[in-house]
Amino acid sequence: MTFRTTAADYVENVSPGSGALPPRARYASSDAKSLSLNGSWRLRVSATADAEDDSFAEDGYDAGGWAEVAVPGHWVLQGDGAFGSPVYTNHLYPFPVDPPRVPTENPTGDHLKVFDLPEGWPDVSEGGFVLRFDGVESCARAWLNGRDIGEFKGSRVPHEFAVGHLLRPTGNVLAVRVHQWSAGSYLEDQDQWWLPGIFRDVTLLHRPAGSVLDFFVHASYDHVTGEGTLRVDSDVDGRVSVPALDIDVETGEAVTVPVEPWTAETPALYDGELVTEGERVPLRIGFRTVELADGLIKVNGRPILFKGVNRHEWHPETGRALDLETMRADVLLMKRHNINAVRTSHYPPHPAFLDLCDEYGLWVIDECDLETHGFVEQDWRDNPVDDDRWTPALLDRAARMVERDKNHPSVVIWSLGNEAGTGRGLTAMAEWIRDRDDSRLVHYEGDIDCRDTDVYSRMYAFHDEVERIGKGLDGGTHRRRQLPFILCEYAHAMGNGPGGLADYQRIFEAHERLQGAFVWEWIDHGIKHPELGYAYGGDFGEELHDGNFVCDGLVFPDRKPSPGLVEYKKVIEPVRIAGDGTGGTVRVTNAYDFSDLSHLAFEFSHQVDGLPTGARELTVGPLAPGQSTEIKLPAGPDGHGAEVQWTVRALLAEDTPWAPQGHTVAWGQETVAPRAPVTVAASAGPVAGERLITLGPGVFDARTGEPRTIGGVDVTGLRLDVWRAPTDNDDGASWQDDTRYGVLWRSYGLHRMRHRLDGVESGDDALTVRTRVAPAAREAGLRTVYRWTSDGTRLKLTVSVRPDGNWTVPLPRIGIRFGLASSAGHAQWFGGGPGEAYPDTGAAAMLGQWDGSIEEMQTPYLRPQENGARADVRWAELGGLRIEGDPEFWFSARRWTNEQLDAARHLTDLTPGDTVWVNLDHGQHGIGSQSCGPGPLPRYFLNAEPVEFSFVFSGID
Ligand code: GAL
Repeated sequence: MTFRTTAADYVENVSPGSGALPPRARYASSDAKSLSLNGSWRLRVSATADAEDDSFAEDGYDAGGWAEVAVPGHWVLQGDGAFGSPVYTNHLYPFPVDPPRVPTENPTGDHLKVFDLPEGWPDVSEGGFVLRFDGVESCARAWLNGRDIGEFKGSRVPHEFAVGHLLRPTGNVLAVRVHQWSAGSYLEDQDQWWLPGIFRDVTLLHRPAGSVLDFFVHASYDHVTGEGTLRVDSDVDGRVSVPALDIDVETGEAVTVPVEPWTAETPALYDGELVTEGERVPLRIGFRTVELADGLIKVNGRPILFKGVNRHEWHPETGRALDLETMRADVLLMKRHNINAVRTSHYPPHPAFLDLCDEYGLWVIDECDLETHGFVEQDWRDNPVDDDRWTPALLDRAARMVERDKNHPSVVIWSLGNEAGTGRGLTAMAEWIRDRDDSRLVHYEGDIDCRDTDVYSRMYAFHDEVERIGKGLDGGTHRRRQLPFILCEYAHAMGNGPGGLADYQRIFEAHERLQGAFVWEWIDHGIKHPELGYAYGGDFGEELHDGNFVCDGLVFPDRKPSPGLVEYKKVIEPVRIAGDGTGGTVRVTNAYDFSDLSHLAFEFSHQVDGLPTGARELTVGPLAPGQSTEIKLPAGPDGHGAEVQWTVRALLAEDTPWAPQGHTVAWGQETVAPRAPVTVAASAGPVAGERLITLGPGVFDARTGEPRTIGGVDVTGLRLDVWRAPTDNDDGASWQDDTRYGVLWRSYGLHRMRHRLDGVESGDDALTVRTRVAPAAREAGLRTVYRWTSDGTRLKLTVSVRPDGNWTVPLPRIGIRFGLASSAGHAQWFGGGPGEAYPDTGAAAMLGQWDGSIEEMQTPYLRPQENGARADVRWAELGGLRIEGDPEFWFSARRWTNEQLDAARHLTDLTPGDTVWVNLDHGQHGIGSQSCGPGPLPRYFLNAEPVEFSFVFSGID
């Protein structure tokens, strides 16, 4: 009897692989020839690792019947489902946990590419040739011209193979067998779609005799002398030149000269060249020194403040296969939104991304491709990072990251990985990294005592705890107490939110030890879908999935900024512009770490009733980092009783590589003259007819007291509204405590409030409607009185709400809603804008007159939920009605009800009806970040308390 294993041994082997060359520095180009093997490849997908023999790798195999797919790519995102589908889990392994074994059902993609060496290429006998795979998920074995060249794991790190002895001038056959699941999958349990394939570039590199092997650019900066020291260590001797610095030295030789330092704010790069006997490699050198000094992360002698994001690689059609323009789009968007740092969660990115970070200026925490989060389900038993058998695989990953990326000035911190528990393997990685590169710091969030790390790092800590840490009152080991603190993840940007950013930022800026934070996360990983718009977890019928938890980014899948990104930009502005309360003075503070303000032009304008009166230049000195100045502003115009504000903007004075001249970097606003109170003398009285009551411009149903028309405009269903379609942050995450109000609201019945009519009273000068609004099965209710008065042309509604019974939950919202005809397609308002805002997400709402179509007033969160409220609205006009608020109100309008919004699972579930539903809210509950962090701070709670608020309606001609 013979036994056969069900999968090839290498698939389930803890080893990182065999046959690959040692890892080395990556560079974008050189004068040695290279041939991209990207493009159309043949593909055959089998259900198991051993369903087919490997004869396809043999010379002369006819793959003519196979499908054609794009490489780089994931096969599950090609072929309209013909090759299987994506699977999304947050931390659960989508297979039984029995390391290093994987399921027999192991989708396996056999890939074939036939290629010729281009004209003019060196003879295959000249020098070496190397085949490089930049990223293959999760395990591959490769053959060239029928010869096995090796197998490898480590999806997001590169692997190179020497193939010179196998190449021929024409008709080369490259065969790659890729398995979706392997032992390596246990190390790659990141919160993302599982997407097998050759998803990064495949390249053939000529390696002439005497060409560059590995090299390490050491370029430090001494902030005391203003000098940089360059030394390029190279496995192959050669010369290093930097013309702009008059440098021309041997490799291994140090040279010190005056330089402009590299920082994320001032990314000075010097072009140089490394020349060996066989190759010329262009260098882009940034001089900077990273150190841990005085308990702080310092670059070039100064502490830095990270205003960061966590970036997964994502494209809605190609998954983690990104082209250069998509990577550049990310960097430009980040720079334009004042972001200065990226954590490459949770793996080294495509190498070109780091070139862009060097060039445009972003601090990078480069994270290793390691997460074993699913072991938490078994109390971390059998965790590979605490099992010596796996340590070679961990070290292999660390080395492939560090060696590849070590020459990037933007990389200031190495991260061992994410959510992998603790264990000796991590310590071994940290030791190896320190030994290889002592010029950067080491990070790993899971190392709570900071045994192996240089930074105390946490995720989703609440505001009060962060403040305690800032004050050094958090305790912890002696070592940890000496270290700076960062939040490697905070502000979970899932759906509407994150709330509370400004409150965090205030805390970071108040305590030196707090060196900033990284929003989770940059982009929603929605997958473009023909019926659903964008798919999320579960939409491909996965047996285990985590729904829309994969859609938690600051940009939508198409990279349109969400309101969260606009808010973040405002909260982390590198220039603070604020009034002093008098309306006549502006205080400008330089909040950069390195730059002065000479690259900015300032302008100010006054606005009357939200309309600007023309901008003028404002002179602000260059101001060193940390400095402030106060500037007197010219007197504003006489608003003749209208409201007046000033706005001061800091704009780019010149074009920069990342935004044009005139781009707004920061702004501030202050009210100089408040608006006049809204008064309506109750001079007209209700006139009762048979079925209708008339009051000024209003016509009411005599039985219900509800308005039918106002100023000739049909109005339907006007009543108190307390329900909002719970946001992801309202619903919270399943592991959160009992303050998940989205869940509590529903169990309370706030989505099914009943309105009992207690009386319609037609008095001398007012029509009064008394009601009690409450859900079935509950004693708690809201006694609600609508009082209508008029001066003959305008109609004023005063709503008084008095809670009775025992209210143990805050309210989602409180205000009124009503319907208008669908022709009410466009709105104009004076208030916060242009985008949405909620009590703890309102920093970016600028006061002014704004307008937009009803469609434009919706924020397209992938899972539909409350959105689109405009804050601090003084007046709004739509559908022939003008509404003034006393006090200011929250304004939203949509072509469906809040209940329909709540019921929808995808945007495509929302279809416009024949009514535009308008909400005018006196209050909204805060948003918070409870989908993975804290809920709203108590001051943003909308508690059930007695309130009174008014709206004045009039018809517009
Ligand atoms: C963190 C994790 C991230 C992501 C996030 C929630 O715990 O590191 O990968 O899962 O939570 O979206």
